[in-house]
Amino acid sequence: MESALIAQIDKNRLPKHIAIIMDGNGRWAEEKGQERLYGHFHGVESVRNIVEGCAELGIGYLTLYAFSTENWDRPVQEVEGLMALLVDTIRKEVPTLNKNNIRLHVIGDMQMLPEFARKELNEALEMTAVNTGLNLVMALSYSSRWELVNAVKQIGLDVQSGKIAPETIDQDTLQQYLSTSQFPDPELMIRTSGEYRISNFLLYQLAYAELYFTNTRWPDFRKEHLYEAILDFQSRERRFGKTGEQIQNETTLA
Ligand code: IPE
Ligand code: IPE
Ligand code: MG
Repeated sequence: MESALIAQIDKNRLPKHIAIIMDGNGRWAEEKGQERLYGHFHGVESVRNIVEGCAELGIGYLTLYAFSTENWDRPVQEVEGLMALLVDTIRKEVPTLNKNNIRLHVIGDMQMLPEFARKELNEALEMTAVNTGLNLVMALSYSSRWELVNAVKQIGLDVQSGKIAPETIDQDTLQQYLSTSQFPDPELMIRTSGEYRISNFLLYQLAYAELYFTNTRWPDFRKEHLYEAILDFQSRERRFGKTGEQIQNETTLA
């Protein structure tokens, strides 16, 4: 099943950057009569599987939405459980990341994280910094509006100090002030568990991403589901505002 799907993928037309909203851990657990944290715990298995799947395929960037700014408002017990799980996972996974040449990045409001989590994360960032394979971007305490407000503030300061002139600000300038400045925009965005929304994730960067929604809950999401999403992506015509005819001519000429 898995190998039949992977064989159909066109390796020359892979999305350079895949972003995933890993949703449905809580419901997955509740459906099994378990605590929500049990779902988060099992969600880690999916993270391992999908990171490995992306590395094997040769995907350049994988961004995983692990915790949003709004998620801080969840019950304290869930937030603390998630933080502990996160730190523990990152600590344990560093050797595997290094073995697979994966470089870890983090986007989000690190100031909000407890000291122990920040420390652990910084160490993992340092320890994987020389890797040149898959770039794994964890969105932690991240929200797009937080990021945009931050960018605008920083641009304001740089205008005030004379570092940039307001009339020179263009899309590239704004892009450089986002926490994703070193990454290309996601081409494929996947959300699991049947919700059809963006939930404050990469609002600016997803401008032309193909969106893929699946009912599969995150703890059940595996490589075969990833392959299905990539195949669906490859079946679409990305027009970027042009006509279908223009796009077809461009591909014939290329
Ligand atoms: C996603 O699963 C993980 C986080 C937001 C941390 P949820 O915890 O949102 O699970 P549901 O959506 O309540 O099922
Ligand atoms: C989005 O999921 C955030 C993450 C997956 C980390 P949520 O479960 O928090 O989003 P809403 O509340 O359903 O919009
Ligand atoms: Mg959710």
